[in-house]
Amino acid sequence: MLLVLRAVPAGAAGGHPMSSDWAAIVLAAGQGKRMRSSRPKILHTILGRPMVEWVIAALHGAGAAKVVLVLSPADHQQIASSLHLDGISVALQSEPLGTALAARCAQAELNGWHSEIVVACGDSPLLRSETVSGLLTAHRHSGAALTLATARAGDPTGYGRIKRDESDRPCAIVEEAAAHEDDRLSNEVNSGLYCFSPGHLWRWLAEIKPSAAGEYYLTDALELAYQENAIVAEINSELTELAGVNDRAQLAEAARQLQTRINTALMRSGVTMIDPLTTWVEPTVHLAPDVTLMPGVLLRGQTVIEAGAEIGPNSEIVDSRIGPRSQVRWSVIEQATVGAKVTIGPFSHLRPGTIVADGVHIGNFAEVKNSRLGPNTKMGHFSYLGDAEVGAEVNIGAGTITCNYDAESDTKNKTVIGDYAAIGSDTMLVAPVSVGAGAVTGAGSVVTHDLKPGDVAIGAPARVVRQSRRKLPKGNDEFRRDD
Ligand code: UD1
Ligand code: CA
Repeated sequence: MLLVLRAVPAGAAGGHPMSSDWAAIVLAAGQGKRMRSSRPKILHTILGRPMVEWVIAALHGAGAAKVVLVLSPADHQQIASSLHLDGISVALQSEPLGTALAARCAQAELNGWHSEIVVACGDSPLLRSETVSGLLTAHRHSGAALTLATARAGDPTGYGRIKRDESDRPCAIVEEAAAHEDDRLSNEVNSGLYCFSPGHLWRWLAEIKPSAAGEYYLTDALELAYQENAIVAEINSELTELAGVNDRAQLAEAARQLQTRINTALMRSGVTMIDPLTTWVEPTVHLAPDVTLMPGVLLRGQTVIEAGAEIGPNSEIVDSRIGPRSQVRWSVIEQATVGAKVTIGPFSHLRPGTIVADGVHIGNFAEVKNSRLGPNTKMGHFSYLGDAEVGAEVNIGAGTITCNYDAESDTKNKTVIGDYAAIGSDTMLVAPVSVGAGAVTGAGSVVTHDLKPGDVAIGAPARVVRQSRRKLPKGNDEFRRDD
């Protein structure tokens, strides 16, 4: 069988391959037993992204025109509801009888495909676009029927070993289970990334015989290629680019590699990291130059941190925006928007729907949920604001609580606090309630009625007025009074 060769421009290796009509098959129908998990292996996440999405992103980044994902029917529903499968074709492998059968399942999706087919494993999240481009370039340059990505492994355990003939040509891949003592001495391994010309691929897949264990190994394609003297090309890659994840220890190792990759790029783009080893930034996060990340920071989702902000130590920020020159220490922030020059923490929690204006100070042990805080408002100590609209330059005294939840009606109510109001320590604001601009409450006040602008209110009107109408579960009548 002849390969149609395309011209490859000089220097294309490592870059984008010149034509983008190649397809990829991602093998992901294995049982993943070594993970010991009820979740399919490829859904285990690294930096917030399922393992297989890293692989698919690398293939798309290299210009794959079509990606066929091979899944087991048992996992299909769970995977389809957890992944963005738009633009990806799915093929189902009814029985997990090996990588060759898995690749064969993709054939119907690739009927009539005339260009190269790259086969990758769904459990190799370290795959880079550059490696895939290099593989294609080598394949096209050499006119090969099969191109392999091989690697030297410090510890080759678990990998298929490359076997060479006396003239050093690769002639077979010996799987760990079938390897003899001398095969195991070799540390040259098969990384599980291949490029095939389609005609050879489908023919070899049909010829592969089951192993002693009854599995059909895709790796046997090398031996078939060798026997028929087809051209086999190779790229030598770092195992850190192609390591397979079979168990959770390898998952953590792969995560460490991706963390290093992301952190190195961020530091080169102008982010300071005091301790990159304990700093985890998901690939979806955007950091401006001159952001400083202290040890123990976890930044997730669609988070944006603007220039000069300092985050950490020990903080988690999810789907939030932190304005320029703000500081967040030992705190958790979720789906919140924080302005410029804001200080937060230690030990505070901003929950979804919180919007904090410039110059705000949120100190120790504060919780803010679904609330707005106006410019320069201060909330120093032990407070809870929920469903509140707070103006500018307000002082929220220590221990202030918005009593936003009405247990009888099971509703949340709003508190409005005007500009320049001063809320005394330990004030309970029983919502719905409003405090006018410039109003003041004394320490320990329980505010149950609206205050007009400039009012000073003190005291605790807490007295029993009537029986609760709150619905209790049946059998709790002893809590009802008789009168
Ligand atoms: C495989 C290779 C090995 C290579 C290693 C690189 C084979 C026989 N062995 O071994 O040479 O060194 O990858 O990481 O190919 N899968 C299916 N259907 C199946 C079986 C597996 O789709 O019936 C998928 C798995 O989900 C996985 C991939 O194929 O994503 C590789 O399978 P796995 O069982 O992890 O193979 P390894 O033992 O790692
Ligand atoms: Ca594997």
